[in-house]
Amino acid sequence: MKNTDAPAHVRGESVYLDDLPLLQGTLFACVYDSPVAHGVLNHIDLVEALKTPGVVRIITAKHLIGENQIGGIIADEPLLADGHVHFQGMPIALVLAESDEAAREAAKKIKADITPLEIITDPRIACAKNELIIPPKRFRLGDPAAAFGRCDYVYEGRADVNGQEHLYIETQGAYTVPMEGGGIKVYSSTQAPTAVQRAVSKVTGLPMHRIEVEVGRLGGGFGGKEDQANPWAALCAVATQLTKRPVKYSLHRMEDMRMTGKRHPYSADYKIGLDKNFKILAYEAVFYQNAGAAADLSPAVLERTLFHCTNAYFIPNVAATAYSCRTNLPPNTAFRGFGGPQGMFVIESAIAHAAEQLKAPASIIQQANLLKTGDEFPYGQKAESEAENSWLQAERHFDFEKLRQEVEAFNAENTFFKRGLAFMPICFGISFTKTAMNQARALVHVYTDGSVAVSTGAVEMGQGVNTKMQQVAAQIFGIPADMVKIHTTNTLRIANTSPSAASATADLNGKAVEMACRAILERLDRVRAGMGAVGAGASPAPTAPDLQNWQTTVNAAYLQRISLSEHAHYATPSVHFDWETAKGHPFAYHVYGLAAFQVTLDCLRGRYEVDFVKTVHDFGTSMNTAVDFGQIEGGIVQGVGWMTMEELVYDAAGKLRSNALSTYKIPDIYAVPKQIDIEPLVTDRENLAIFNSKAVGEPPLLYGIGAYFAIRNAVQAFNGSVSPACDAPFTPEKVLMNLYAAHEKEPGIVDVYRKAAENR
Ligand code: MTE
Ligand code: HPA
Ligand code: MOS
Repeated sequence: MKNTDAPAHVRGESVYLDDLPLLQGTLFACVYDSPVAHGVLNHIDLVEALKTPGVVRIITAKHLIGENQIGGIIADEPLLADGHVHFQGMPIALVLAESDEAAREAAKKIKADITPLEIITDPRIACAKNELIIPPKRFRLGDPAAAFGRCDYVYEGRADVNGQEHLYIETQGAYTVPMEGGGIKVYSSTQAPTAVQRAVSKVTGLPMHRIEVEVGRLGGGFGGKEDQANPWAALCAVATQLTKRPVKYSLHRMEDMRMTGKRHPYSADYKIGLDKNFKILAYEAVFYQNAGAAADLSPAVLERTLFHCTNAYFIPNVAATAYSCRTNLPPNTAFRGFGGPQGMFVIESAIAHAAEQLKAPASIIQQANLLKTGDEFPYGQKAESEAENSWLQAERHFDFEKLRQEVEAFNAENTFFKRGLAFMPICFGISFTKTAMNQARALVHVYTDGSVAVSTGAVEMGQGVNTKMQQVAAQIFGIPADMVKIHTTNTLRIANTSPSAASATADLNGKAVEMACRAILERLDRVRAGMGAVGAGASPAPTAPDLQNWQTTVNAAYLQRISLSEHAHYATPSVHFDWETAKGHPFAYHVYGLAAFQVTLDCLRGRYEVDFVKTVHDFGTSMNTAVDFGQIEGGIVQGVGWMTMEELVYDAAGKLRSNALSTYKIPDIYAVPKQIDIEPLVTDRENLAIFNSKAVGEPPLLYGIGAYFAIRNAVQAFNGSVSPACDAPFTPEKVLMNLYAAHEKEPGIVDVYRKAAENR
């Protein structure tokens, strides 16, 4: 089945927040945000702004009726600055005007008197000053100190990995409408309707049942709208509460980039110990997470960094510590992988370091340490591993030996172009690491004409979850997919939703849809059994009736006053975790896979191209290969962008310098891999995924890490004396510096040039 949204997308008919027809009397909002990253807010001068034609009102912290607080995990984030500012881009005031232009014009005229305070942008400095969001978190397995003593080789180093701008095509926004009796209806571009409902409830002081949140679809979220859709909805809601008028705010791209948090940058120290057979006996890592100025989701992201710090490897002795460090950047947030990718980059850096010292390809170390079924993760769960199967199937299918030989031959023949090959195994746990969040509900109505309406807590953000939900209902009922309509996500139809996140949306909501449909089907089967001559149901009740039978049975059920609706609740069985011991069984299952990357490097210019990505991916049994292959291709490109060209630059004043698409480069069609081959891993294991179709949203992004190490290998093929720092992204500028890095220390590099020229 094709993605059901595709036709409307390509025709421009899909309806996003900014496409909603507006009610008469709608006001337009614009935030005035802090121009200073840290300081005391003495005074806000609104005089000139209020004179702007069309301006109706300007709201500041003191006007709020409810609490000035939007922190989800920790209550440490005011909606509007009150007394202090903590990052550049922090909302200070909200202008309301009769037009979008007037609101933005007026916002420019606001001035704030701020006494500057010390600005911290580096997480290591924050940690040294004990500026921590939460106490450090630790994972431990075995006895690392003793194990290092038994190692033949021990290497220590540092790895740094930058953040990433989400760059959802649809920017953040909200539209709020006053309802009878003081309630508020909120249209929001959010992955988390209930989080928006809670935030609006808090800042307005209204109980949650007076607030309806409605989500049609998102033009991308990627984690950026798991928590950070809240402030815009909360601001609009406060404005609606105070003015009794509808209020709309749809952020401009540069407002969005400046004011919202991103993937967390991390800095880390590692120590890796191996025996003679390249078995990793011990691993230590200390992670410094750059959380930004408030907690947001950082504590949960930090946890997932620890959960994935050993990637797809079994290491018997592990000590990992993670600090969530408070800096004066916009609060960083969820982003595809949720801290996992950062943890994996560090272990891959450690392995690359060891490989370089041992003069062996990294793949030998990687392959020697892959998880086996029954191996214990540092958090206590036992692996049901597909790591070795993925690797072996990829090795056979793509002929790694030939790929290696071709790269060697190319590099022997070429001087100013070098190729690099790298392999990236992945292992990603599926479930929210906070056990309570692993629940979902679905509401299914069968109408008397036989058509079916489904509501769930799932938010469609381009990942194709609506298509999958439609498939589930159609398949259980045995009716054509076009008889099933998936409706918007709305907190009145489905309450207490978990965010559409953690790649678990289709599993959680799909299981709830399956349960609801089965409950209705059971009732229909009883009706059919009692119908005798009617339809084809005289023999034992068929579970997949043909269409006419379906319509007849539905109608009969209605006449017999049997319910044609069901609201089902699903909670993932068997998941649990105890932070006291840092052990448990947090994940329903893991997703595995292996990718091979080849890059070609232009050694004069420092530019590179990804020639191919060849992957064997563990889908379980994909229920929709069109959707799932799309997720893999998109995830890989997004991961490659993060690792290679996307460069967030904050200056010492905490100002985002790469604040537009002219300075923040994302992959375009020329930067995507020339070839992406996807082979499904052949498995027949039962799992907890919907229809055995494993979650696919986040894991493919992790493959992108392979691009970094492929480039690094190509650099070293040109300049054998350089050991490039593991400091992602590997931008062309950094590549160029590394290609000629030994120049100062080793004047002989000039000879490399000369020899190269002669060889030509
Ligand atoms: N794909 C598209 N097209 N747009 C998105 O915003 N978000 C990703 C992933 N794939 C995203 C996407 C992230 S961060 C997650 S957690 C999952 O989709 C969420 O959806 P799922 O749980 O249905 O996989
Ligand atoms: N993944 C994604 N989002 C989340 C999680 C998680 O594990 N926990 C809370 N929000
Ligand atoms: Mo995805 S980062 O869990 O929204």
